[in-house]
Amino acid sequence: MRDSHLQDFYTFLRFPSISTDDAYSEKLGECAHWLVEKLNGIGLEAQRVSTPGHPVVWAKNKHQPGRKTVMLYGHYDVQPPDPLELWDSPPFEPVLKNGYVYARGATDNKGQILAHILGIQEVMAEHGDLPVNLHLIIEGEEEIGSNNLPGFLKEHRAALKCDVAIVSDTGMIARGVPTLSYGLRGVTACEVKVTGAKMDLHSGVFGGAVANSVTALARLLATLHDENGRVAIDGFYDDVKPLEEWEREAWRKLPIDGDKEILAETGAPALFGEKGFSTLERLWARPTAEINGIGGGYQGKGTKTVIASHAMAKLTFRLVPNQDGDAILKLARKHLEKHRPPGVTMEITDGHSGPWYLTDPHSTFGRAAQHALKEAFKAEVALIREGGSIPIVSQFRDILGVETLLLGLALPNCRAHSPNENFPLENLEAGIKMNKAILQEVGAGGP
Ligand code: BES
Ligand code: MN
Repeated sequence: MRDSHLQDFYTFLRFPSISTDDAYSEKLGECAHWLVEKLNGIGLEAQRVSTPGHPVVWAKNKHQPGRKTVMLYGHYDVQPPDPLELWDSPPFEPVLKNGYVYARGATDNKGQILAHILGIQEVMAEHGDLPVNLHLIIEGEEEIGSNNLPGFLKEHRAALKCDVAIVSDTGMIARGVPTLSYGLRGVTACEVKVTGAKMDLHSGVFGGAVANSVTALARLLATLHDENGRVAIDGFYDDVKPLEEWEREAWRKLPIDGDKEILAETGAPALFGEKGFSTLERLWARPTAEINGIGGGYQGKGTKTVIASHAMAKLTFRLVPNQDGDAILKLARKHLEKHRPPGVTMEITDGHSGPWYLTDPHSTFGRAAQHALKEAFKAEVALIREGGSIPIVSQFRDILGVETLLLGLALPNCRAHSPNENFPLENLEAGIKMNKAILQEVGAGGP
């Protein structure tokens, strides 16, 4: 690894580009500015495009007629690093340990973007140009649902005309196993707030006379699943496309023991989920309802004899083909209203939403991607779907009319969204090779 590559990685990681917290807006702007400078420095024409939210970075080479046009996409925003006390080193002060760089965003998504940038840099340095026409789009709002990116894509639809999109923001099934993902789950969010009394009450004076908002919320949330982990919302599974036998068979043959690895990585005492499906099937092809956060009542030290006025929970649903996010939110709302316990009022607020994605890994571009992966990692390529979501990918199809190749570099133990997120330099290096190879493959018109 060249020292300048490592320095670029550290500089990129030092920006606390936390998109969900407005207190960091300026830092996102600084990070976008650094990217623009870096991209101009390697011979692209880069600009920072303002949006109602965080800016988009857009870089191009000189386009020439008769060449394929590739759009690379990634995000420079990161998830909040909390809880800070669980990090072994500060999240925005990258450190290298045993070949792994530790920092928030190391894998998701800065390391993977840098692999694009440095791959391009090396090709430009060697040949003075790329074998393709390039658009590189790096946004700052992926972790909060990419709300302003569809507007950007629509506004610049003609200028962004391309043949294929390439994204490195997904996983590899194991170290050294190149992985092409041909599906993503979608996600849709809402928040529910339950209110009892107009203020917090003395639980001795009023306990037994009025409903407790926290108890009511707990009862309500408990109705979301049955005891076997199946979502109990009426109609929730109606549009789910059943898994096909070839896919189940292919996933059984993958060179990993999903159960063992997930137990080891998570430290959970046992696996749990919908009956009748393997762990990988539950992750990649089945929908879920998750409670991501819950609050209400006294959280401080010691005891406080109080009946809280409010309680709230944040929910998300992971979606699979052919579920529709808006329809699922409607079903969820109906379910919550039907099961609202007596004595409380309830308010439901819809949040962000992004569709699932499914494409053909054996298309011409899909095969080009498999070649590039094989060449970079010198190993057989695994074809998988993913449990995570990248909301904008389905819009690349809807707005720009292109399919997306998901060439991820995230390892199962990368700790994305968790404390001690990390990225191995080995993958930065392989990622650079992979990017050089895919540009070459697509430029040559596919395999
Ligand atoms: N890189 C992830 C998505 C991902 C993770 C794909 C693992 C495949 C495997 C992305 O940055 C992400 O976290 N997306 C969010 C989107 C949400 C906030 C709308 C997600 O999946 O929770
Ligand atoms: Mn993420």
